[in-house]
Amino acid sequence: MAQIQRDVWSADAVRADFVVVGAGVAGLVAALRAAEAGLRVVILNKGPTWRPDRAEQSTSTYYAQGGIAVVQPGNHEDSVDRHLADTLGAGAGLTDPATTRPILADGWRAVSGLIGWGAEFDRGADGGLLRTREGGHTVRRIIHAGGDATGAQMQRSLGRRLTEASRRLPIRCLDDSIATAILRADGRTAGVAFRTRGRDRVVYAPTVLLATGGSGHLYAATTNPAGTTADGIALALRAGAVVADLEFIQFHPTMLFVDGARGRRTLISEAVRGEGGRLVDADGRSVTDGVHPMGDLAPRDVVANAVEARLAATGEKCVYLDIRSIPDFATRFPTVTAGVTAAGLDLEDGLIPVVPGAHYLCGGVVTDVDGRTAVPGLLAAGEVARTGLHGGNRLASNSLLEGLVMGSRAAAVAVDRRDKPVVEVAPSVFGKAPAMAREDLQDNMSRSVALRREAVGLADVADRLRGAPTRPMETVADVEDAALTLAARVVVAAAQARTESRGCHARTDFPDTDRVAQSRRFGWLDGATVECDGPEAIADLAALVH
Ligand code: SIN
Repeated sequence: MAQIQRDVWSADAVRADFVVVGAGVAGLVAALRAAEAGLRVVILNKGPTWRPDRAEQSTSTYYAQGGIAVVQPGNHEDSVDRHLADTLGAGAGLTDPATTRPILADGWRAVSGLIGWGAEFDRGADGGLLRTREGGHTVRRIIHAGGDATGAQMQRSLGRRLTEASRRLPIRCLDDSIATAILRADGRTAGVAFRTRGRDRVVYAPTVLLATGGSGHLYAATTNPAGTTADGIALALRAGAVVADLEFIQFHPTMLFVDGARGRRTLISEAVRGEGGRLVDADGRSVTDGVHPMGDLAPRDVVANAVEARLAATGEKCVYLDIRSIPDFATRFPTVTAGVTAAGLDLEDGLIPVVPGAHYLCGGVVTDVDGRTAVPGLLAAGEVARTGLHGGNRLASNSLLEGLVMGSRAAAVAVDRRDKPVVEVAPSVFGKAPAMAREDLQDNMSRSVALRREAVGLADVADRLRGAPTRPMETVADVEDAALTLAARVVVAAAQARTESRGCHARTDFPDTDRVAQSRRFGWLDGATVECDGPEAIADLAALVH
């Protein structure tokens, strides 16, 4: 395969074999694996050029703390069956065992590949990988790096690998580049339109991977970095793909509480509870006693709802994570310690103020177990995708694993598709789109579409979103606001349609859980949400959307 010629990159349109939108774990693994197989790869990175020393980073991968849930071959306490059972236990009836088992079973191979690329995980005196526990896991199976800096370590390893690979392979990362549309011709994917430094450009390719992360900035406060604005959900819906389980937005039980603060807030890793931390209220009473047999290490939806219930009962603004039993806390949890200190708090009294915070999108763009969406040539992997692994409530630390595994699988699909013809369609300019003002949208979502929902609040937000003004797409923030508005409309529609409480979706007006668990698929047609109730409807939608 010929190397990409340098001068090609200065043109407004370039050709590649594979375009990856996003530069977190799923995107970089896919891009590197595909380039190693000889594909010409372009990565569109919305963030700035990667530098490990920036105060704020642009991928959610970087901020992942706890670790990677993985079954190690020598761990006789554990097995893929047991990991599957824990994942199903957390997933509230919507985890699909048919896709989940192969993803989990592929975990150790994917982690070994990353270690082979130079990623270093924490090890004990005997050289073996250290393992911790988090909510919903019945054994210690979560490997970690730098104490609680697992994602940062992975991002650094992948960044180094990308720098090294770009010297010898046809792989190029275009920074400050936001995707504005998936191009399609004859029903197939033909490339991506994107904007970089105020210019509209195109990269043509037969295969495009969405690896854009989640949607944390639908809410006023989140553990996610600033660019986490549901971009991939919007791109996929506009291209004719379908989404599922978007109503299942996971609130992490322990986000650092700072009164009135907006935007990215420090996560207090669940591994803190895995190492003995306890959730207590202002009077020192346990928050989770009597709620679930696993107590503070119950699945995340259970613990977050227990916190919410205690706050409602006491009228307090936060609860506390009591860390007094954890020896040498600052060494084991340096990221948490730094985040707490940066917020102007200290750990002297051993009590960290916390509240539930928007953390992870369990649903996403529907894919098969190799990352294929309903649109030929369009793939999705990582948080933006819905493989069926997370169901109605993701098991802690399954997401980095999924990103590693699905990134590799997406690369294999791109390799298979390398010879597909590409029509160089002219992109239509992404000129205007409905977009609600960011803070207004976030305040509405935080008030009525957060941990607890009910019909009146959902209907009110749906009306406001439908009335969002159409505005010119001039800046990156405009494009992000349009993505947030579109994603919010589908999240709200999905939450309205689910008249039960399940996993991360709690309806105060429908507190019971239906006997039959069902995922529902939604698409976007002519400016409105449509429900697709079977494979034919999904294929019809993909064909109808141009
Ligand atoms: C954490 O460290 O608590 C986050 C892990 C995860 O979200 O999977």
